[in-house]
Amino acid sequence: MNLQHKNMPAFANEQTYDLFAPEALANSYPLFKRMRSEDPVHYSEALGYWILTRYRDVEAAVRDERLSSNRTALFINKLGSLDVKEIQNFLDMTSHWMVDTDPPEHTRLRKLGNPGFTTRAIESWRSIIQNTTDRLLDRVQNQGGMDVVSDLAVALPGFIISEIFGVPETDRANLLEWARDIGTFFGAAGGSTIEMAELARKADKAAVNFCALIRQLIEQRRRQPGTDMISLLSVAYQEQGFNDRELPFLCMEILNTGLLTTTDLIANGVNALLSHPDQLQKLKKNPTLINSAVEEILRFDTSVPFSTRIAKQDLTIGGKNITAGSIIALGFGPANHDPEKFEEPEVFDITRTPNEHLGFSSGIHFCVGAVLARMELTICLTTLLRRLPNLRFDPDKQAIPTKHSNLVLKGFDSLRVKFDACLN
Ligand code: HEM
Repeated sequence: MNLQHKNMPAFANEQTYDLFAPEALANSYPLFKRMRSEDPVHYSEALGYWILTRYRDVEAAVRDERLSSNRTALFINKLGSLDVKEIQNFLDMTSHWMVDTDPPEHTRLRKLGNPGFTTRAIESWRSIIQNTTDRLLDRVQNQGGMDVVSDLAVALPGFIISEIFGVPETDRANLLEWARDIGTFFGAAGGSTIEMAELARKADKAAVNFCALIRQLIEQRRRQPGTDMISLLSVAYQEQGFNDRELPFLCMEILNTGLLTTTDLIANGVNALLSHPDQLQKLKKNPTLINSAVEEILRFDTSVPFSTRIAKQDLTIGGKNITAGSIIALGFGPANHDPEKFEEPEVFDITRTPNEHLGFSSGIHFCVGAVLARMELTICLTTLLRRLPNLRFDPDKQAIPTKHSNLVLKGFDSLRVKFDACLN
C-alpha cells in the first residue's frame, strides 16, 4: 500500500497541535479539548496523520471496514531511507499479530488465542497477581517511599505474564527489555532518520531473540506440558491441526501487548487517585468501588490514547476527504473526554455510571487482555491502599511523564510516592 501522508492536503488547517510538547506530555487533555472543538478531524502535517478526537468519530472508525489495521506500510514508512530488510523479522512477527490484521485473517487469529483465556485459566491468575503484588510491596514497605514506576509498575505485569506463560525467572529481564524495544518502535510516531533507524534495529533484534526464547519454551512444554498458557495454546494447536509456525507469534503478541500498556495504566491510576484526594478517600472508605474506579482510570487517563488505521479507499470523515493510504490516528484518550458522550468529562469520578470509555477500544479489536488488565489493576490498587498507609505524592520529587514520541502509549518514567513505613 502506498501511504499518502507525505502529500499534505490542500485544505489542511494551518493550526498546529504539538502532541509531544512538554506541556502536552505532562497533560494532554487541554490540547485534546482544543483539537476536538477547533478541528476534530485534523490533519497533522508534522506527523503526516489524520487525528480523530471526537467520541462518535473514533467509535465509528473502529467499526469501519474501509479502515485497515495492517500497519506494515506504516512501519516501512517510518524507516525513511533505511532498507526494509532491517525490520524483516519485526514485520514477520507483526504480520501474524491479530492487532495488525483485518478479517478474515483477524477472525482466524483471534480464535486461535481463545484456549489461553478459559474461565479456569483466568481464575488461576488471581493468586498469581496477588502474590506478585505482595512480593513487590514487601521490598519497599518499610522504606516509607518508592517509585511507583520502577519499584512496582514495570515489574508487576512482567512477572505476572511471565508466570502465566511459565517464562523462567532468568529470562524475565530480557523479555521486558525486548517488549520495550518492540513497543517503542511499534508506537513511534516518527522522528529523525537516525533515531528511527536505531529504534527499528533494536525492535528487529528483539523480535529475533523473543521468538527464539518462545520456540524453546514451546518445545519444552510439548515434552512436558504444564498448566501455563504456552502449554494450553500448544495442546489446542496440535489438537486442531493448526500451523505450528504461528504459535510463537501469538504468544509474543499476548506477552507484548500486555506489558507496557499495564505498566503505564498502573502509574496513570496511582497518579489520578493521588491527584484527587476526595476520590482516594472515597475508595479507601468503600473498597468495593474499586471496579468502577478502574473503569474511571481507563477513561480519565488511559495508557493507550491512540491507535492507528490505514484508509483502504478514499473516504470522508466529519466532512474531511481522506485519501486511500492515509494514516488515521484514532484518539481513544481524546474520545474519553468528549463532553458529547461524558458528563463533566474533566471530573475524575470513581462512581461514574454509565462509563462507556474506549480505553480497551471497541469492535473486533477490543482488547483480548481486558479481563487480565482489569484484574491486575484491581488487585494492585486495592493492595497498595491497604498495605501502604497514608499514600501520597513525594513533595520533593516531581512526577516525570514519559518523554517519547510514541503516540500509542502514555505513562510515566518516574512517579515517586511516600507512605508511612511499616516496620514488621
Ligand atoms: C491496561 C492495560 C491495557 C490497555 C489500556 C489495552 C488497550 C488495548 C487497546 C486500545 C486495544 C485495541 C487496539 C486497536 O484497536 O488497534 C488492545 C488490543 C489488544 N490487547 Fe490490550 N490493553 C491492555 C492490556 C492488555 C493485556 C494485559 C493483554 C494480554 C494479556 C492485551 C492484549 C491485547 C491484544 C492481543 C490485542 C489485540 C486484539 C485484536 O486485535 O483483536 N492487552 N488493547
